[in-house]
Amino acid sequence: MRSTKAVIDLAALRHNLQTVKQIAQDSKVMAVVKANAYGHGLVEVAKALDETDMFAVATLEEALSLRKADINQDILLLEGFFTFEEIPIIQKYRLQLVLHHKNQVETLLRYQQSPEINESIKVWLKCDSGMYRLGFALGEVQTVQQTLNALNIIEKPIKLMSHFASADSDQEFSQEQIEKFIAATQGLAGQRSMANSAGILAHKKAHWDWVRPGLLIYGASPIPCSTGSDYDLRPVMSLESQLMAVKPIGKGESVGYGRNWFAETDTNIGLVAIGYGDGYPRHAKNGTPVWINGREVPLVGRVSMDMLAVDLGSAVKDKVGDRVVLWGKELPMEKVAPYADTIPYTLCCGVTRRVKFEYINDQTSNTNS
Ligand SMILES: Cc1ncc(COP(=O)(O)O)c(C=O)c1O
Repeated sequence: MRSTKAVIDLAALRHNLQTVKQIAQDSKVMAVVKANAYGHGLVEVAKALDETDMFAVATLEEALSLRKADINQDILLLEGFFTFEEIPIIQKYRLQLVLHHKNQVETLLRYQQSPEINESIKVWLKCDSGMYRLGFALGEVQTVQQTLNALNIIEKPIKLMSHFASADSDQEFSQEQIEKFIAATQGLAGQRSMANSAGILAHKKAHWDWVRPGLLIYGASPIPCSTGSDYDLRPVMSLESQLMAVKPIGKGESVGYGRNWFAETDTNIGLVAIGYGDGYPRHAKNGTPVWINGREVPLVGRVSMDMLAVDLGSAVKDKVGDRVVLWGKELPMEKVAPYADTIPYTLCCGVTRRVKFEYINDQTSNTNS
């Protein structure tokens, strides 16, 4: 049987949560598990993260999946609600809300007029400090806060949040965002949150009451030219397959669709049972590292739907059935991503449903490194 699989190490996941807690010692942790926990499996990941203070998701469906799986921690909906009808569901399942737009405030005002409402809702007022994605303009924050303060349905004090645009690479702009957030929320009561993974690593000053790590929890670094191990993080996902064929190829012969790689010498090609149908990026370039039998070998030729090829070299010892790692403990995602002109986030999120998921608790990964 085809052995392509994603091995998810829950011990590494828990270790990474502890590492984040060490880095942001004075803050609570809101683990971001949206998009199926960045492709790692929402419920399995949330169950393993029983020591997180809270979860954050993007959609109501994600939050309800967590509640259905008996996850009892607080859950924040990072985009808030989309329709009036979602509000009673949010109350019923004790979800917290990001409020980022005046339409949402108006909907809450309307909702408050229903006679049967008694449960209060915890909200986070989102301030746009320069990302120009979600959030109220800085000049509106105090007025919106006053409007919300007048609503009985909302628990006080209202929490305050913002989001970094480029905490991984632009220190100056990030500093400006921090200062703008401080100024816009001056004098307001309420806990604050701003730091995503890059903010946690690069902007200690912005840790405040809550940090919101996503990528760090999964063991990867968002900072260019670094890997998770630089911060005592351990890769959680290993995407693995096996060699399905090994064969010689003569100098001048080409490999794969489109013939975009030619052998410069006589060598051996290994065919690996994984392709873009499994979520391996089709646009990964010739030379993308692939791990096999303790070394990295280069991807050659175009990635197909079900397989890809690597150059095993002329003195080949590798055999059909040998284990191949596309990314994971032996080969960090951060190292693979640039070869596909992407970031680690899209690699783990992109693994498709055809791939089998195996959950392990590799305690050795917790003690050996
Ligand atoms: C509002 C918000 N906070 C936190 C995160 C976590 O980001 P990261 O995975 O970079 O830590 C995200 C993810 O995109 C987000 O949208």
